[in-house]
Amino acid sequence: MKRLTVNLTEGRSYPIIIKEGALNEAKALLEEHLGKEGGGHRYFVITNKTIAKIYSGFLKGFENVIRIDDGEKFKNFKTFEYITGELLKAKIERKDCIIAFGGGVVGDMAGFAAASVLRGVDYVQIPTTLLSQVDSSVGGKTGFNHVCGKNLIGAFKQPKLVIIDPKTLDTLDIRQIKTGLGEVLKYAFIEKSTGCEEFNFFNRLKSLLNEVNGVNGGAKGNLYESLKNHWEEIIYTSVSMKASVVSKDECEKGLRAILNFGHTFGHAVEKITNYKKYTHGEAVAAGMVMAFQTALKRNLINENYFHDAVQLISNYGLISESMKNFNKEKMFDAMKSDKKVSHSKIKLVLPVKPLEVQLFDDTEAPLIKDSLL
Ligand code: NAD
Ligand code: GLY
Repeated sequence: MKRLTVNLTEGRSYPIIIKEGALNEAKALLEEHLGKEGGGHRYFVITNKTIAKIYSGFLKGFENVIRIDDGEKFKNFKTFEYITGELLKAKIERKDCIIAFGGGVVGDMAGFAAASVLRGVDYVQIPTTLLSQVDSSVGGKTGFNHVCGKNLIGAFKQPKLVIIDPKTLDTLDIRQIKTGLGEVLKYAFIEKSTGCEEFNFFNRLKSLLNEVNGVNGGAKGNLYESLKNHWEEIIYTSVSMKASVVSKDECEKGLRAILNFGHTFGHAVEKITNYKKYTHGEAVAAGMVMAFQTALKRNLINENYFHDAVQLISNYGLISESMKNFNKEKMFDAMKSDKKVSHSKIKLVLPVKPLEVQLFDDTEAPLIKDSLL
């Protein structure tokens, strides 16, 4: 078992527990960490219909389970209304606790329901996708999409506890593993800027590839199968960096922007392909390549680091042939409408040295366009 803490002010710090098989102990962990004085609180699990089928055994242990439709397109006001309606009909009280059991969509929606129902109740994250285990379950960003854009309605609401069971990744398909890997690789490129202890995650991710490819005495195998033996370590390292950044800058006044490395380009890829062709992590992977190209053209990094980094992204199978010819004008327009644009300046997190990034708002438009895939 590995344990981390997100350190926050006003008694809001919370633990993150990472353990193979943690799901089997979830009830005990909940009581250990949330067992409130006087007791009597109830749990309301929010999940989706797909996960509810796969994990029906786990859910049997809970009296109140709310199942939403599966998919990003249901991350909207209607689903929010449904969730809060179910909570209110079941007479949720301020002392009760919501449990978000699922990927990032469930986590963001359940978190926002917890932020708003009865003006706020406690909630716990039990993430079940790689992306949600390494990123969205930690840090308190909650909300849903609006017709005007993604994640435009929401609030910062930190959970009380995060329970991560890497075993749940066994039922996840490869595409969803890859989307999580996009975020995992992000941590390798921002490590020195997170203020975290030294992991040298970049080299570790390289050495894992070597093991799988039979280099250095390892047996040749399937990358995604082999990663199963390393999830606990990969998740722990990733979440350590996320927790460190969130502890320093909870509401994204500055440092937290580095977690968006690759995302301004990536969001544009998602937007111009109508959020259908690529998953979030695939788009972020393409976005990171574009950020590296921008940094190289701006002479922020040298050729060696550029090649090493792009090779790593490619070797993890995150870049596909179809990512070679995006419409540059459409991409640039989409980047200009990103919610992080201020005073018409496109803000980009760019690598400045190996494993170090900085936020820039002065990259000339022609150079950005020239760096697109
Ligand atoms: P998701 O929640 O849509 O889950 C992906 C798919 O996997 C779904 O079909 C889901 O039903 C299925 N699934 C989940 N767990 C499973 C399991 N263990 N076995 C089998 N199938 C399973 O997608 P996601 O990638 O987890 O999250 C994406 C969302 O997260 C986006 O809405 C994004 O905006 C949000 N996000 C939020 C933050 C944050 O900080 N709050 C950060 C990054 C992304
Ligand atoms: N996923 C980016 C953040 O939490 O800030």
